[in-house]
Amino acid sequence: MDNTVEKLVSLCKRRGFIFQSSDIYGGFSAVYDYGPLGIELKNNISQLWWKEMTQHNENIVGLDSGILMHPKVWEASGHIGAFNDPLVDCKQCKSRYRADEFSDDFNSLDWSKIQCPNCGSKDCFTEPRQFNLMFKTNVGPVEDSGTEAYLRPETAQGIYVNYLLVQGAMRLKIPFGIAQVGKAFRNEIVARNFIFRTREFEQMEMQYFVKPGTDDDAMHEWKESRFQFYTHHLGITKTKLRFHQHGANELAHYAKEAWDIEYEFPFGWSEIEGVHNRTDYDLVRHEEFSGKKLSYFDQLNNERFLPYIVETSAGLNRMLLTVLADSYWEDEENNRIVMKLHPRIAPIKAVICPLVKKDGLPDKARTIMDMLKNDFKIIYDQQGSIGKRYYRQDEAGTPFGITVDHQSIEDDTVTIRYRDSQKQDRCSIDKIKDIISDSINKI
Ligand code: GAP
Repeated sequence: MDNTVEKLVSLCKRRGFIFQSSDIYGGFSAVYDYGPLGIELKNNISQLWWKEMTQHNENIVGLDSGILMHPKVWEASGHIGAFNDPLVDCKQCKSRYRADEFSDDFNSLDWSKIQCPNCGSKDCFTEPRQFNLMFKTNVGPVEDSGTEAYLRPETAQGIYVNYLLVQGAMRLKIPFGIAQVGKAFRNEIVARNFIFRTREFEQMEMQYFVKPGTDDDAMHEWKESRFQFYTHHLGITKTKLRFHQHGANELAHYAKEAWDIEYEFPFGWSEIEGVHNRTDYDLVRHEEFSGKKLSYFDQLNNERFLPYIVETSAGLNRMLLTVLADSYWEDEENNRIVMKLHPRIAPIKAVICPLVKKDGLPDKARTIMDMLKNDFKIIYDQQGSIGKRYYRQDEAGTPFGITVDHQSIEDDTVTIRYRDSQKQDRCSIDKIKDIISDSINKI
């Protein structure tokens, strides 16, 4: 059996990428904490996405809406009524499962014949029942039904309810997009595969508002553009990516058409991002529930209409897991593990190592560090043999090792070691910045 995920979990803990939540209390299911390298990697990925959306596209702007919203938002969006997963319980061992894990057509299953995967009992399951995935909470000091609120299960709704304010403030003309990165919460029945499916996660969503009738073209363009993001910007192996179109029984309650971008994880092909044509479903519903007009006025053609919305919805944590899984490399020949992260997203761009802790080498190394640290995340390491220092950074995904030796004092040169090939070159100190920059910008 492929145990790459177990190896990744272990590396992530060892090197400070990801820890299970509340570790000293034995962990807290389906929540993870990001350590020093994890947060750098996560920030690099989300900043790349943000730049791609809001800087490269003149007609896309950003937003940061609240996690808590008016409870009516979730009635209007259909999440209170329809954001459910089918749940079955084993009466023997109390394990819980999503009924659709046993069969897509779980309502026609003869549950008395199904064996519990945990305890092996038969004829032990409850009838499937719908389980709402939203986390409920109360706002204010009194707990009653009037104070109920929900932690948002998607960031999209914050964009819909603000869309006219954003459009007016920025004088946007259709087509335009609004992008948002933020936390979302789902009380998943089964959470597994490390950070793939968790109860607290981050989404990077962009809602693109278009004139009805142009939505199919917009859908096509965004599908292609989002696929390219993985290959061109994150450096993901193209053959491990594919599209999956939702069939009629998979479509979410709001979608007319939906495509998943899937990655071939060690546990199989799984969704990392969805591109959805949500039509005017959400805006119609918000008009209905709020009583406010949400139509857009097209000055050029002197007409009002409710825009259609094409959504690109990515999970930041899943994207990070994709990057980790895709870059994990056991270099058996050299007995090392390497995270072959693209330099653009690598948490640390270079490690600066004085060969020895004397003869002025640490001071020289510190000078180089000062020269680079404004532009890149760099670390200094003088602990242990040079080989051990390099191998530590190979696991951290650091693309460059810069070693300061006695020759450096004489002629202002260093050795630069390349993570993947382990090739070493002698280069002048004033060239280091260009070498790192070039690698970051390379497609
Ligand atoms: N606004 C549309 C929407 O939320 P979705 O397909 O339910 O659509 C979009 O979610 C993305 O959010 C998924 O492709 C995935 O990357 C991420 N995601 C959803 N549930 C998740 C979970 N429990 N843990 C981690 N990521 C999740």
